[in-house]
Amino acid sequence: MSLQLRGLAKRYGDAPVFANVSLDVAPGEFVAIAGESGVGKSTLLNCIAGLEDWDEGRIALDGEDIGALSPDGRALLRRKRVGFVFQAFHVLPHLNVAQNVALPLLLLNAPDDARVQAMLDAVGLGGLGERLPQQLSGGQLQRVAIARALVHRPALLLADEPTGNLDPATAGKVMDVLASQARENGASLVLVTHSEAAAARAGRVLVLTPSGIAPA
Ligand SMILES: Nc1ncnc2c1ncn2[C@@H]1O[C@H](COP(=O)(O)OP(=O)(O)O)[C@@H](O)[C@H]1O
Ligand SMILES: [Mg+2]
Repeated sequence: MSLQLRGLAKRYGDAPVFANVSLDVAPGEFVAIAGESGVGKSTLLNCIAGLEDWDEGRIALDGEDIGALSPDGRALLRRKRVGFVFQAFHVLPHLNVAQNVALPLLLLNAPDDARVQAMLDAVGLGGLGERLPQQLSGGQLQRVAIARALVHRPALLLADEPTGNLDPATAGKVMDVLASQARENGASLVLVTHSEAAAARAGRVLVLTPSGIAPA
């Protein structure tokens, strides 16, 4: 899926977060975004996903102006075509691992146990489908979040510091899964990361600052 940002600006009340953010991501492209803590990286991903409103500028996904969509329209687009790996996982505590991963498919009325199992296998959690989230380590939870973001083969994958809580070896494995699944599905991948190792896998690395976004 192509992504186009033009002159995007975001404020919280009087406090500007970022301004003048313009960016094109081609279908299948892998772009990493770095930037200091608090500069608005998570906010930017939330805007791209239509989870948060912005103050100026335009966001288009495959040419469709998402600012013009209703909240329901945005939710539907997200459900069908976007995968989001949240910084704080947002794994649902009362569902087991397999149920968490299956959730995007259930929301699309397209349950597929074989696909869920394949995703669990892909992230190295093949035998843990019945476990509850509280019985998992941080690295395992992160991989549940990644399997869930990928299970419905999204055309756009947004990942917010997906290796932030992981040791280098696990981080490497998680990045392998993210990058290979994105490639397999022809998905565009926008990765927010502080990790040089993770950013090195991207086709391009950009840095977000309060005044815009530019090549690293
Ligand atoms: N809901 C909110 N209300 C007010 N300020 C917020 C809110 N969410 C984030 N912020 C502020 O916006 C700025 C950018 O936050 P964030 O996008 O989380 O940055 P990053 O992900 O780059 O660390 C920070 O200064 C943060 O305190
Ligand atoms: Mg953040």
